[in-house]
Amino acid sequence: MNAYLLFKSIHLIAVISWMAGLLYLPRIFVYHSEAVANNKSEDLISTFKIMERRLFIYIMNPAMIMSWVFGILLIYIIGMDNFSSIWLQLKLVFVIILTIYHFFLLQCLRKFTENINSFSPKFYRIINEIPTILLIGIILIVVFKPL
Ligand code: HEM
Repeated sequence: MNAYLLFKSIHLIAVISWMAGLLYLPRIFVYHSEAVANNKSEDLISTFKIMERRLFIYIMNPAMIMSWVFGILLIYIIGMDNFSSIWLQLKLVFVIILTIYHFFLLQCLRKFTENINSFSPKFYRIINEIPTILLIGIILIVVFKPL
């Protein structure tokens, strides 16, 4: 069994799941903040809270941890000297920004849970573009691998 290919496969499954959550959670925040602004029922609001919490706890957190664990194992396998390559340095910068964004969404989720969200639906629509831009950057970096 080739450990490199196995770890890369698990890494890709994890990053796809992580990205799905990073793109979907702010969409739920858009609908949740609109529902609050339009005085929708408590039932609907609590459904959004359950969806947000389950998505974060059961999909996004494990997927982020697996992405990091198998990404770091891949660095170990392809050799630590890759740290001196621009592609890996650039990729790590992008991935760290993605991780900060992940924890920012956790802050937003906590505020929604306590009914103290202060951002508008438009704000969540705009920040939803952040992971899309980072995703495009990361894919171009890992495929083209600039020195
Ligand atoms: C979480 C921290 C991450 C680390 C430490 C990491 C590290 C790595 C490493 C070392 C490789 C192997 C590169 C090679 O075989 O030459 C790899 C492959 C890959 N990573 Fe990541 N990665 C991370 C997150 C991500 C994310 C968030 C994405 C996408 C959004 C991503 C997409 C990919 C892709 C598409 C490949 C396959 C590249 C290829 O086969 O040439 N990675 N990653």
